[in-house]
Amino acid sequence: MAEKIKLFVNGEEVEVESGKNLIDAVGAVGIEIPHLCYHPALGADGNCRLCLVGIEDGRPPLVPACKTPAVEGMRVQLDTDKIKKIQKDIMEFELINHPIDCPVCDQAGECSLQDYYMKYDCQGSRLMVDKVPKAKRLDFGSGVVHDQERCILCARCVRFCRQITKTGELGIVNRTDYARVAIFPGRPLNNRYALNVVDLCPVGAMTSADFRFKQRVWFLEKGEGICHGCSKGCNIYIDHNQEKYREDIIYRFRPRHNEQVNGYFICDEGRLSYKKENEQRLLEALKKGKSIDLDKAMELAAKIVEQAAKVVILLSPNLSLEQMAAGRSFAKKIGAQISGYSDGMFLAGDGDDFLIQDDKSANRAGLKMLGIDDTEAVFIKALEQADLLISVDNDLYGADGKALEKSLRSASLIALSSHLSKMTEQAEIALPIASYSEYAGSVVNCDNILQSFTQVIHKTALPPEADEVIHQLGGPLGSREEIFNEIKKGSGPLAGVDFQRIPAEGLPLT
Ligand code: SF4
Ligand code: SF4
Ligand code: FES
Repeated sequence: MAEKIKLFVNGEEVEVESGKNLIDAVGAVGIEIPHLCYHPALGADGNCRLCLVGIEDGRPPLVPACKTPAVEGMRVQLDTDKIKKIQKDIMEFELINHPIDCPVCDQAGECSLQDYYMKYDCQGSRLMVDKVPKAKRLDFGSGVVHDQERCILCARCVRFCRQITKTGELGIVNRTDYARVAIFPGRPLNNRYALNVVDLCPVGAMTSADFRFKQRVWFLEKGEGICHGCSKGCNIYIDHNQEKYREDIIYRFRPRHNEQVNGYFICDEGRLSYKKENEQRLLEALKKGKSIDLDKAMELAAKIVEQAAKVVILLSPNLSLEQMAAGRSFAKKIGAQISGYSDGMFLAGDGDDFLIQDDKSANRAGLKMLGIDDTEAVFIKALEQADLLISVDNDLYGADGKALEKSLRSASLIALSSHLSKMTEQAEIALPIASYSEYAGSVVNCDNILQSFTQVIHKTALPPEADEVIHQLGGPLGSREEIFNEIKKGSGPLAGVDFQRIPAEGLPLT
């Protein structure tokens, strides 16, 4: 816990964390100091001057709050006439060449310039000369579209590419009101985190080609989730909207700050993986690839399970701990071999030293903590002797399933799946299950941090959760209470966990 110190803001005493600059220190207790160029992940650049505040200790009349550490007893002034005048002047300066095309700008509704204008400026334009025209809709690469006219030259995007990805594709060229952000000729944005500049840009100068003009942001609901694109488990916002006569649709993933997991960023692949949540979904039961009533399919599947002599239950390492525990207890009850083997969920060498991991599953650490084997050899051996394979959200044909095809043909297949795949095509019975934006659960990431997430998407005909389907097929665990008790069994790192109270920032397990 950081040490607490006392400050006086506009004469009022406030208690803040030490070791922060004034923007972050008083921002954490709900007091806003307007700022454009400062971002906690990039540090202070001091170029916008919108954060100027007064300090009553004999310093120069005004100091930038982004570069001023909060210290015990400091008396800070935020609302003198002089400060208000400077804020107005800076806003007027920022808007001299700004096109003010808010009605057609993607950032409208989440734009710092728009919000600060309403709060700190709100005056008509005094401009008597033409604005300096600049380029619009520039393709900067990696799905980033740049509008030079809207840019306020805060340099956040430039600093991101220099300090965070260290790829340095962006720079500011020219001077005065001809200054602009540019890529070097023939060298577009080319890093796996490039779309973070869209979130970092405080105005609508960096937009995402994927999201542009799809939705006005005030129509979007913002749910909190965990990316299932790799074992890092980055925290995300799931922005979605249910329009009239349509199902709830996800329009974008954005990073959600969690210092101990992903900081302020996510990778582009994870960001764009929202599309998989909308597309290629298995929403009805199938019998040998043909549509069938869900209750009937459940009945048939339960009968196949009852008649099978040797069963293998294959769990995806992307499932939640709750679903894995339900699968494990089902396997125990019917004497089945359980496996967490997955084909194509590990791409050796694909990860980096920032966020992206080789392991493309969200909960392999959880699988291991529950004592479920995930080796190919054990799975293949069990499958060769089995007459029934129950696959829970796994796709053995994903990368190179050829070697498995023979064994799969000799066993019947029941596939519980959130998405259409070759598994659901080949299955005797395929049963639809919810995907991770549609249920609540918990996962353990590659750093052994336990994180929980809630259900964000509510469709009218939502497929059941995997643990519910397992219960209907004969699994012994019917309630969350029973499932939590099953997870906590034994003496491993999950033993003492209170699953109702996992902290928002996650719980490191030892
Ligand atoms: S494009 Fe956006 S982030 Fe980059 S300098 Fe301009 S305003 Fe700042
Ligand atoms: S690093 Fe992994 S968890 Fe994070 S956003 Fe990318 S794919 Fe998702
Ligand atoms: S935020 Fe301090 S100068 Fe820009």
